Amino acid sequence: MRIIITKSTSEAVDVVSSLLLEKLNSHSKLVLGLATGKTMEPVYEQLVEKIVHNQLDIKSHSFFMLDEYVGLPLDHPSSFKSYVTRYLISPLNLKESLFSFPPVDHVNLNKAGEEYEQKIRSCGGIDLQLLGIGTNGHIGFNEPGSSVESRTRVVKLTEATRKANEAQFPNGNVPVEALSMGVASIMDAREMLMLATGSSKADAIKYLFNHHDDDSCPATFLKSHPRFTLVLDPDAASKISLNI
Ligand code: F6R
Repeated sequence: MRIIITKSTSEAVDVVSSLLLEKLNSHSKLVLGLATGKTMEPVYEQLVEKIVHNQLDIKSHSFFMLDEYVGLPLDHPSSFKSYVTRYLISPLNLKESLFSFPPVDHVNLNKAGEEYEQKIRSCGGIDLQLLGIGTNGHIGFNEPGSSVESRTRVVKLTEATRKANEAQFPNGNVPVEALSMGVASIMDAREMLMLATGSSKADAIKYLFNHHDDDSCPATFLKSHPRFTLVLDPDAASKISLNI
């Protein structure tokens, strides 16, 4: 695991957006796995600025979303499809067809999960997976208790996760389920890049540092991956002690 502890949140965001830009620039056909969430908002804003500034053409790349709410219309402002439209597709004037979304409108969601995995495989697999972390250590929507062998499937959201996301649902109807890539699907990526910012993530990051392969904090599985980079701001790093 490579750890980058930055001096500020803006530096952490800059490190991640620069790493993403470098990957998009150096590959002719990158397959990039994308996360949503508040942590990634400034990352995508900066990435868009950098792509525009560098006049980078990213139309040969493809993008896979980690997860999507079940039971929410895809055009709902809080769907992850709307999120990525807002932060990447519209500002960069990209074709939606470059992006793949967990197909939550499929009549058979178990089959939908298998088909999504197949689609990822047919694109050659994910080169780089961008990840946030939940306050309970979830990755994607792989909540505590998720198996290291899990694949794209319907997951039940924990109360902690629903509470963390309730601001996006002013009517209080936070979805109870999502279709999420599994831990094994995420671990298949050739490289992983996680960003954690803010004091609300400090406990999960501390747990991640002190435990391995522990399904009560699915992020701990990532430590077995040969190419896992973790970028932290000072608040997210505030409870870890590095014996170096
Ligand atoms: C969302 C996702 C989640 C978030 C995590 C952190 O696509 O994969 O694992 O990364 O819930 O969310 P924020 O960034 O809102 O704290």
